[in-house]
Amino acid sequence: MSNKKSQDLMDKLVSLCKRKGFIFQSSEIYGGINSCWDYGPLGVELKNNIKQNWWKSMTQFRDDIEGIDASILMHPSVWITSGHVESFADPMVDCKNCKMRFRADEISGNKCPNCGGELTEARQFNLMFKTHMGPVEDEASMVYLRPETAQGIYVNFLNVLAPSRQKLPFGIAQIGKAFRNEISPGNFIFRSREFEQMEMQFFIHPNEDEKWIEYWKEERMKWYLNLGIKKENLRFHQHDKKELAFYAKTAYDIEYNFPFDWKEIEGIHNRTNYDLSRHTQATGKDLSYFNDQTKERFIPYIIETSAGVDRTMLVCLVDGYYEEVVKGEERTVLRLDPKIAPIKAGIYPLVKRDNMPEVAKKIEDKLMPHFKVFYDEGGAIGRRYRRQDEAGTPFGITVDSQTLQDETVTLRERDSMEQIRVKIDDLISILNKKIWGV
Ligand code: GAP
Repeated sequence: MSNKKSQDLMDKLVSLCKRKGFIFQSSEIYGGINSCWDYGPLGVELKNNIKQNWWKSMTQFRDDIEGIDASILMHPSVWITSGHVESFADPMVDCKNCKMRFRADEISGNKCPNCGGELTEARQFNLMFKTHMGPVEDEASMVYLRPETAQGIYVNFLNVLAPSRQKLPFGIAQIGKAFRNEISPGNFIFRSREFEQMEMQFFIHPNEDEKWIEYWKEERMKWYLNLGIKKENLRFHQHDKKELAFYAKTAYDIEYNFPFDWKEIEGIHNRTNYDLSRHTQATGKDLSYFNDQTKERFIPYIIETSAGVDRTMLVCLVDGYYEEVVKGEERTVLRLDPKIAPIKAGIYPLVKRDNMPEVAKKIEDKLMPHFKVFYDEGGAIGRRYRRQDEAGTPFGITVDSQTLQDETVTLRERDSMEQIRVKIDDLISILNKKIWGV
């Protein structure tokens, strides 16, 4: 895609997200704050559906992964032990002329990409946000906002192992906020300074790392395909030595073909026994595992799957965005998978009389406990359909004059725009089948 076309697409998406209530810039009425985003009514539904889908795939549909929700603020020593205080940094350069800052590894040449001015020498910039705990703001009260959720899992390894009675291999999953003082945030919600991660740490015998990294690569790719993301827009990228994070022995990214380039949406890392060994050394608490059958004691290796909630959401929006001409009229449609669509069905009386609104409202009451639905009686029916096409709503239910005679409605599909006639009494089971396949 040309630069202009890809910028156009991103501009259109940002504008749709604002107009339909998916995503707003944080503190907008104060002029906004860079790289922080607020999720509106549709955005929070989409985000929650993505998180719930991930959570269930990890903790409900399998019996070898437990969930956890650790706090954002942790003992500051955790981040010294983990290596983040020393190594979680990006090389930064400043322009001596326009004063803009850049990640040195993201620009080519030695001139400012903004004004062509001279750049400073690169220096390491630590990405962790700092704050203070308690009323005194000194070195001793300093704490970090976590830059990854993973450490909350490692320090709770024994706490989860004992009550869950899990045996290796097993995993611990967590969804939560992470913070990074990125030097060059951007591309809408792709890189921000406050974001959410969905991380799972899988504890294994050290001899089995290659088997499990292959297993998790496959599982995680399947997850995106199951969200309806197009196969041709997804690929793996293996990290070479230069790219590897300081904690990883091997690492693969799942990348998506964004309008602005192929970019990482998830990291799958072999973190070896790096984290558990370091926490053992630092605390004196033995984080090893005893296999009571083989009588072997060892510090488990960890295969990590680390996905971004916000990036997954951007993938779903970009992948689902279509503009098409239908009967000479342009329509914009978000082809979100019904499983994650914020609203599952729009409910419409064809006209605002003849008892149609009352019947439509009764259908809304009936469906509400099962699905997030939206009642709309305002404007021509075609316009109401279009409004929900843009919101990604997969189904439309219309009450018309025939409904009043035989208790049937039309059920319209967003993507094909086909309409079938179904009984009101069958709506719940039909929608369940179409959304969940059951
Ligand atoms: N615990 C390992 C870890 O954090 P990472 O590759 O640095 O690994 C994992 O991050 C995922 O978190 C990324 O693939 C991305 O989806 C998300 N992520 C990282 N930084 C982000 C940012 N600044 N804004 C939005 N998402 C981000």
